Amino acid sequence: MAPLPFTQKAVALPGKRTPFVELVVPVYPPVAGEVVIRVQWTASTPLDLHRADGGLLIQKYPSLTGSGGAAGTVVAIGEGGDLKGLEIGDRVVAFAFHGGKEANHQEYITIPAYLASKIPSGVSLEAAVTVPVNLVTIFHSATADLNLELPWPIPEGWTPKNADKPLLIWGAASSVGIFAVQVFRHWGYTNILAVASGKHHEYLCKIGAAKAFDYRDDGVVNQILAYTNDDSDPNIPSILDCIGSLDGTLKPLTKLAHRGTNVAVMLPVILKDATEEEEPEYELDAAKCLIGEWADGVIVRGVRTHFYLNNEFFKQKLQPEIVPALLREGIVKPNRHRVVEGATAVERAQNALDILRRKEVSGERLVWRVSETEV
Ligand SMILES: NC(=O)c1ccc[n+]([C@@H]2O[C@H](COP(=O)([O-])OP(=O)(O)OC[C@H]3O[C@@H](n4cnc5c(N)ncnc54)[C@H](OP(=O)(O)O)[C@@H]3O)[C@@H](O)[C@H]2O)c1
Repeated sequence: MAPLPFTQKAVALPGKRTPFVELVVPVYPPVAGEVVIRVQWTASTPLDLHRADGGLLIQKYPSLTGSGGAAGTVVAIGEGGDLKGLEIGDRVVAFAFHGGKEANHQEYITIPAYLASKIPSGVSLEAAVTVPVNLVTIFHSATADLNLELPWPIPEGWTPKNADKPLLIWGAASSVGIFAVQVFRHWGYTNILAVASGKHHEYLCKIGAAKAFDYRDDGVVNQILAYTNDDSDPNIPSILDCIGSLDGTLKPLTKLAHRGTNVAVMLPVILKDATEEEEPEYELDAAKCLIGEWADGVIVRGVRTHFYLNNEFFKQKLQPEIVPALLREGIVKPNRHRVVEGATAVERAQNALDILRRKEVSGERLVWRVSETEV
């Protein structure tokens, strides 16, 4: 293997609501079970905005940025340990989120092999980088927060419990939502209700939604109530809130959830959006939101995908095996993506952040080149 450089360029956040800067940081040689990836593409996600403008999950500054995915080539592997079959030269994509040597917006990341997925041929790096964060999020939120089963491999003839009961996905055109529709449909859920703006309805129904509703329509809650109204209790057993906006999603959901409904909310709950002028406000305990407005017996949980490694099966299988298989078999398609340009990595990161802050992302993921040169 070619020698690694000792240092590299990384994008960093010097303080809350402060423009990104470039830092020169070490490249960490891999230990047993680790691989080094030369990062070519990354994605900027709402979490980058929550961190940059709201200081979310940042213990100290400067803080290296990027946990929205990193795609590139394996350039070094540790001696020994479980390398999940990875070899030098493999094209991989990683959901690596512990910061420091894993921070995605730097030229080389050093990560445990179980955080990487081999990219099937025919899938480009920039398409692949849209996938792992929110695909992992669906497996985690479904199993840990909604008590829905997603067995792997799917047993012959298996159908999920409540397969034909409404499964409501609010924010279905988000990256999280698009993966949710694809995954739940593949696992046999037949009554997926997608809430998104009208321009996305045709696509969402094509990938598996049984019916779509427009959240921009004032009557959306009544339309969903009318559609799901039957004698069963709860009418909608499972709700996935892919947005976590106090006014935009949680408030309408209080009118749709009944005793026994499980509601999983993407954290943070956004009390106030980030804008050019003002800091955002977040709440990390979903159960503290709208107390008294939920019906008795509704179970509200906040999703924290960063805990998915607590599930040993997912730790070993999700990124190394399940993500590549779903991509290879075309069960899950990468998100549509928009390439963000800029003269340097810092500029590209900043431009992506500005697009996120202006809320211009709709049914797509922002991706950009980390390194200026090919491997
Ligand atoms: N805690 C966790 O583990 C975890 C994991 C993953 C993501 N998240 C969080 O989940 C949120 C979504 O992430 P993402 O990457 O999927 O975002 P994204 O793709 O950037 O979200 C953009 C989409 O949000 C939709 N949207 C905005 N407000 C809406 C509303 N009131 N109702 C319905 N749809 C609405 C828009 O839909 P239209 O185009 O239809 O207008 C747009 O397509 C972020 O806050 C992220 O930080 C949390």
